[in-house]
This record gives sequence, C-alpha cells and structure tokens, in this order.
Amino acid sequence: MTIIVTGGAGFIGSNFIFYELEKHKEDRIVCVDSLTYAGNLSTLEPVMNQLNFRFVKLDICDREGVYRLFEEEKPQVIVNFAAESHVDRSIDNPEIFLQTNIVGTSVLMDACRKYGIDRYHQVSTDEVYGDLPLDRPDLFFHEDTPIHTSSPYSTSKASADLLVMAYHRTYGLPVTISRCSNNYGPYQFPEKLIPLMIANALADKPLPVYGEGLNVRDWLYVEDHCKAIDLILRKGTVGEVYNIGGHNEMKNIDIVKLICRYLDKPESLITHVTDRKGHDMRYAIDPTKIHNELGWLPETKFQDGIKMTIQWYLDNKTWWENIVNGEYQNYYRKMYGNRKEM
Ligand code: NAD
Ligand code: DAU
Repeated sequence: MTIIVTGGAGFIGSNFIFYELEKHKEDRIVCVDSLTYAGNLSTLEPVMNQLNFRFVKLDICDREGVYRLFEEEKPQVIVNFAAESHVDRSIDNPEIFLQTNIVGTSVLMDACRKYGIDRYHQVSTDEVYGDLPLDRPDLFFHEDTPIHTSSPYSTSKASADLLVMAYHRTYGLPVTISRCSNNYGPYQFPEKLIPLMIANALADKPLPVYGEGLNVRDWLYVEDHCKAIDLILRKGTVGEVYNIGGHNEMKNIDIVKLICRYLDKPESLITHVTDRKGHDMRYAIDPTKIHNELGWLPETKFQDGIKMTIQWYLDNKTWWENIVNGEYQNYYRKMYGNRKEM
C-alpha cells in the first residue's frame, strides 16, 4: 500500500519512515514536508534513493498541491506528523501553529474525503490533556480525560483532534488518533530539552533549566512511539484514540544532571532561568488501552535509550552542528537572551 507520511523530515516522522521501510518492505512511503526550520532533508538521505520512497516538498496547507498529490499517488493511508511542535515558539508567536496544525489538518482530511482513503491517522500529543499536579502521583491521563490545554501549541493540537473526530462523525472518515508523551532519540531538533542540553554541555555552555526544574515529563524512546503508530495503523479500531507512554516520569533537573554525568561535565553549568509562561507541571500517560487492545509495550528502557541518544549526538555532530551554527543562533539569542538567571 502507499502511505503518505507528512512531516517526515522532522524528528519523529523520519524515525517512523526508517521503521516502516525496514519493517514493511512491500509498502511505498511518500514523504510530504515543507522543510520548515525543523525539517532536514539530510536526515532522509539514507532512504532517498530507495525505489519505494518518494520525497515531495509541499506545505500541507496548500490545498491544490495536496489534491494533486492524492490524484497522482492514490494513497491508502495518511499519517500526519506535520506540525509546528515547539511550545516556546508557540508562546512567542501562535499564528503559524493555528495555520499548520489546524488548517493543514483540515486540508489533508478534505483530500481524504474527496479521493477516498482506508485510514487517516493523526499524530497528537498528551499535552491536549493539560497538566497534572505534582502532589497527585496517583493521577494519569486516560483517553477520556477532558481536553484542557495550556499553550497555543497544545490548543492547536487539541483543535486538530476535535476536527479529526468531527470528520469521522460527520463524514464517516476512517480516522485514528494517538496521543503520545515526550519523545527522545536520534534526529531531534536541538531546541528541545534533551538535545539542547547535550549540545550546550558539549560546548561547555550554560544549561538553561526553566524555574526550579521540578516539572515532570514522561519520556519515551522515539522508536517505541513509531512501533505504536504502526500497530494502530494495522490493528487499531477506526474512530478510537490511543494514549502512548512508557510510565517513565522524570523531573527536568534530573534529566539535565544525568546528561552532565554521562558527558562528564560539571553540574555548575546548570543555570536556572525564568520559567516558561503557563508551564505545565506534570504529564503522565496511562497506556493500558493500547497495551490491552494491541499488545503494545515500550521496549527501550530509559537508561539504555538515553545512552544511545547521547552516543548518537556524539557520533553525528555534523547533523546538529550544521543546525546550531546557522539561523538557530538568532533563535537562541531571542529565546534565551531575555531569560534572567534565578
Ligand atoms: P518536528 O518539529 O521535529 O518536525 C515537524 C516536521 O513537520 C518538520 O519536518 C517540518 O518541516 C514539517 N512541517 C511543519 N509545517 C509543515 C507544513 N505546513 N507542511 C508540511 N510539513 C510541515 O516535530 P516532531 O517532534 O517530530 O513531532 C511530530 C509530530 O508528533 C507533531 O505533530 C507533534 O505534535 C507530535 N508529537 C511530538 C512529540 C515529541 O515529543 N516531539 C510527542 C508527542 C506528539
Ligand atoms: O508531551 C509531548 C510534547 O513534548 C510534544 O507534544 C511537543 O511537541 C514536544 O516539544 C514536547 O513538549 P515539552 O514542552 O514537554 O518539551 P521541551 O523539550 O520543550 O521541554 C521539556 C521540559 O523541559 C519542559 O518542562 C520545559 C523544560 N525546558 C525546555 C527547554 C527547551 C527547560 O527547562 N529548558 C529548556 O531550555
């Protein structure tokens, strides 16, 4: 079958493409990506010449372009990873988040309605549930936890989820949605916590921890997320939402200290800076449904995954140094220049 993967030049999308091409050699993957600052064509180099792979530079908001591609490729499945994905950028400027994450999703689904499709899968996030208090470790996000967003990013993702469900109910579009916790692993853009701290530590630069660093995230190795999506596509029930997470909650400060330890860098590099506005305290997924219905379980333990990830950044310096030496410098000055040390 032909699968259109949008956002495949980004972090999770590229890992998903590698996984699918390896696991399902009979399938054809068409990657659609507009190559924003977060998209990197060099990531896809290893598969670029494979006969069952095609890259198309296209904005998912470009209705005519998307319709043309559907006419050409006649895909059976769409997996929508394409999004503006960084919370801090959404706080700085929400507009593009609404455009790509909401309007882009609707364009893709309109194409699915027009040309027919076996499955549309929306890659969503646990952030649509808002956050949990630190003093209630008994609470988790379930699929029926109310949507209660905090940032423009999470609000745009929640809006897209609602739209996806509306297209299912109104037009009978065969959709599924997955809501995953924080991913880490190879090819993550160094604006996100783990790669940013690795890159800064290697350059002996300050490690900017927001506030006290007590916020908790539930970390999952990216390949485990890809495996879960693959299972949902092939065995999941249409119209259903699946939470994905590994019961691996960690405080930000502990992650940063661990990176210092593995890289043999002093903790004195850690600098507590002005907190993120509206900063969510704790995310924690209950993955019982995907485990019971599809047999999914995370396979990579955090202590192994973080070592593999740090090693990947050590072995692939050109990949991320090309990024941090470019436009990223302006981003960094803008985002971190005004954060006061606490
Ligand atoms: P990313 O920022 O690394 O990649 C996003 C990709 O989408 C980039 O390649 C970018 O060029 C592309 N893109 C952006 N706007 C586009 C547009 N208008 N048209 C076509 N392509 C466009 O993001 P990521 O971390 O890989 O996240 C992928 C998806 O997974 C997102 O939908 C995100 O909300 C979701 N998600 C991410 C995490 C995480 O921890 N990173 C966790 C749960 C869910
Ligand atoms: O939970 C899933 C979400 O995880 C995804 O939907 C988002 O696309 C993804 O970006 C991620 O969101 P977070 O905001 O949790 O990830 P980020 O890496 O930006 O930050 C993780 C935590 O680390 C968060 O509490 C903020 C903190 N942080 C982050 C940065 C970049 C710092 O303390 N310092 C930093 O410099």
